[in-house]
Amino acid sequence: MSLRERTAVDDVLEARARYVARGVSTPRLVVTRAEGAHVEAADGIVYLDFAGGIACQNTGHGFAPVVAAIHKQVDRFLHQCFMVGTYEPYVEVCRRLAEHSPCLSSAAAGAEQKSILVNSGAEAIENAVKIARAATGRPAVVVFENGFHGRTLLTMAMTSKVRPYKAGFGPFPGEIYRAAAPYPYRGVDTDAAIASLEHLFRSDVDAESVACLVLETVQGEGGFIVMPPDYLPRLAELCARYGILFVADEVQSGVGRTGPMWAIEHYDGVEPDLLVSGKSLGGGLPLAAVTGRAEVMDAPGPGGLGGTFGGNPVACAAAAVVLATVAEPEFRARADELGVTLRARLDDLATREERIGEVRGLGPMLALELREQSPDLAQAVTAAAFERGLLLLACGLYGNVLRLLPPLNVSDEELDRGLGLLEESLAAAH
Ligand SMILES: Cc1ncc(COP(=O)(O)O)c(C=O)c1O
Repeated sequence: MSLRERTAVDDVLEARARYVARGVSTPRLVVTRAEGAHVEAADGIVYLDFAGGIACQNTGHGFAPVVAAIHKQVDRFLHQCFMVGTYEPYVEVCRRLAEHSPCLSSAAAGAEQKSILVNSGAEAIENAVKIARAATGRPAVVVFENGFHGRTLLTMAMTSKVRPYKAGFGPFPGEIYRAAAPYPYRGVDTDAAIASLEHLFRSDVDAESVACLVLETVQGEGGFIVMPPDYLPRLAELCARYGILFVADEVQSGVGRTGPMWAIEHYDGVEPDLLVSGKSLGGGLPLAAVTGRAEVMDAPGPGGLGGTFGGNPVACAAAAVVLATVAEPEFRARADELGVTLRARLDDLATREERIGEVRGLGPMLALELREQSPDLAQAVTAAAFERGLLLLACGLYGNVLRLLPPLNVSDEELDRGLGLLEESLAAAH
C-alpha cells in the first residue's frame, strides 16, 4: 500500500471515477488555476503548459485583454440566441473573420466574406459540409488519411483513426470518401497523394458529385503533418476543374498557431472556398466558425443554419480581442521568432537523440515524430514530462508524435525550461 498522503487530487479523481463517464479520458491532473503558460493543480504543483487544453491557448491562459472583455460582456448579458435577437459581438467577430479571411488575397480580392458562428470545431465542420452541399447541390465529401475533424457522427466518419475514436460507434453517415494525404516522412509525396485522389475519382466516386474536399492545412491530431508547398496548388486546381469546394480545416492550425492568422497563408495563391476555425478563437471559451465567400455562405436559406448557443456573446467578446491580438504585427513577430527558436532547439535535440525520426511543422506549430510506430515511447515521455512538471501531448495515427503547443506569447525563460524538461523526459523514458 502507498504511504503517500491523500490529497485534494485524490478526492476529485475518486468522485470523477464515480460520476463521470469513462469515455472522456483524463490524466491525473486536477486543475485549480491557470495563467499564461502555467496550470496549477489541486496539490499545489504548478505545471508548464505545452498542451494548451489541446491548442486552445494561443494567447495563453487568462490573457488579460480577453478576460477584461469577458467581464465587460458578462455585466451586459450572457445569452441571447442569435436566432432570437441580433447582438453586436457576434457581428463583430464575423466582421473580423471577413477582414482576415485568407480568401481575400488575390483572385477573390474584394469578394464579400461571411461567417456563421457555432460552439465547437466538429459543429463548424458539419456546417461547412451542409453549406457546401447546399451551394453545389452535390452529396459527396472527400477527406484524407491522417485527418481529424471531430467526434460527432459525421465528423467521426470524416476522421481517419479507428481507435479510440470510431471503434464501436458505427454505422457512420454515407457519402464520405477518403484519399491519401501527403506524408513525406512515411513515403507519401505530393505525386502519390494526387494519384490517390485521381484513383478515388475513377474507382469510388464521380468527381462531379463531390460537394467539397475537407483538409487540414497542417494535420493536427494526425501528427502535425504539413501539406507540402506543391500539393495545395495541385489540389486547388483539381477542385476548380471539377467544381468541388475546398474546405480548409484550420481548427487546430489557425488563429496564429503557425505564425500568420491562418496556416494556408503560407501557401501563395491557394485560397479555400470555406475556412473552418475554432479552438483558440474563443481565447478559452467555446467558439468556432465557418467563413467563406458570400455566394457560398448564403446558399442555405434562412433557418437552415444556427443553434441555441452558437456565437455566445461572451465567447464572441473574447474572440474579437483574440483576433485583434493575433493580427498585431508584434504578436506575429513573436510567433515567428518562437518558430525559429523552437525549430533550432528541436533539430539540435534530434541530432543527439536517435529515437527521434523527424522534427516537423510550420512556424511555431512543431512536433517530434519518434521512429517507432508505437505509442509506448511517446506515452513514457509524456508521463515523464508530467512527473517533471510539463504538460505535453502525443498525437499521430500510431500515437508516436510529441507535439508542442505552448502559448505563442510564452517567455524565453519558460520556453527554455520547457524544452529542457522535454529533453530530460526523453532521456528518462524507455
Ligand atoms: C483539425 C480539427 N478539426 C476539428 C476538430 C474538432 O474540434 P472540437 O473538438 O472543438 O469539436 C479538431 C479537434 O481537435 C481538430 O483538431
